[in-house]
Amino acid sequence: MGRKENERPASYHDLVIKDGRFIGRFEEMYQHFDQPWMQDKQPNPYSRASGILHMQRFGIRSLVEVGCGLGYYADRIHKATGARYVGIDVAPTAVAKAKAHFPHLDFRVDEVKNLAQYTDFQPDAILFAEVTWYVLDQLDALFKLMLTHYPGKYFIHNLVFYKGTQRYGTEHFTNLKEFMARAPFTPLGWMEATTEADSTIETSSIFRIERRT
Ligand SMILES: C[S@@+](CC[C@H](N)C(=O)[O-])C[C@H]1O[C@@H](n2cnc3c(N)ncnc32)[C@H](O)[C@@H]1O
Repeated sequence: MGRKENERPASYHDLVIKDGRFIGRFEEMYQHFDQPWMQDKQPNPYSRASGILHMQRFGIRSLVEVGCGLGYYADRIHKATGARYVGIDVAPTAVAKAKAHFPHLDFRVDEVKNLAQYTDFQPDAILFAEVTWYVLDQLDALFKLMLTHYPGKYFIHNLVFYKGTQRYGTEHFTNLKEFMARAPFTPLGWMEATTEADSTIETSSIFRIERRT
């Protein structure tokens, strides 16, 4: 028997990607699960630290984060850098919780496709942290949007890859090198890290939003 609409599935993953297929019911997921991806525990320590190092190294003082979720990484970035911040997320429940937890930060309900609407904020950088797998169908359009609306700014990209077990999105890229070949921007810095015990490889990269020559 199938799952009834709005019935709580066993795992939040079932509302995101199931059997190698994108589901993307993020709002429903946040209604049913308090801490999807253990956001309060801030896993992926290497890539999170690296994203902050990129900001410090390149003097980034403001950013728009796409897919901010519950806002924990935003708060960590704010504590480490003091950067001006706007975070957007498609799930109203996530944004409401982020606002309640971190009232000093600016979180808004919005879709990545509306990213061009944040030019007035004049961000030094756009941050995608663990959101890329969910926007694969729009990725090339998003790169184009950034080239048009945020030329010369930075793009910081954090993404986990799965060691040999990934089924979803593999036709797009399977590792950082392939992602970097797909992004049309000038690469400035990147890192990959894992441990023997991890089933994932953490990555963090930074680009200048300009056409790679
Ligand atoms: C894995 S969480 C990452 C949260 C946070 N960036 C972090 O690193 O802890 C991915 C988030 O992306 C959001 N998301 C997915 N598709 C989106 C879209 N098209 N536009 C905006 N946000 C989206 C989801 O609702 C979810 O909160």
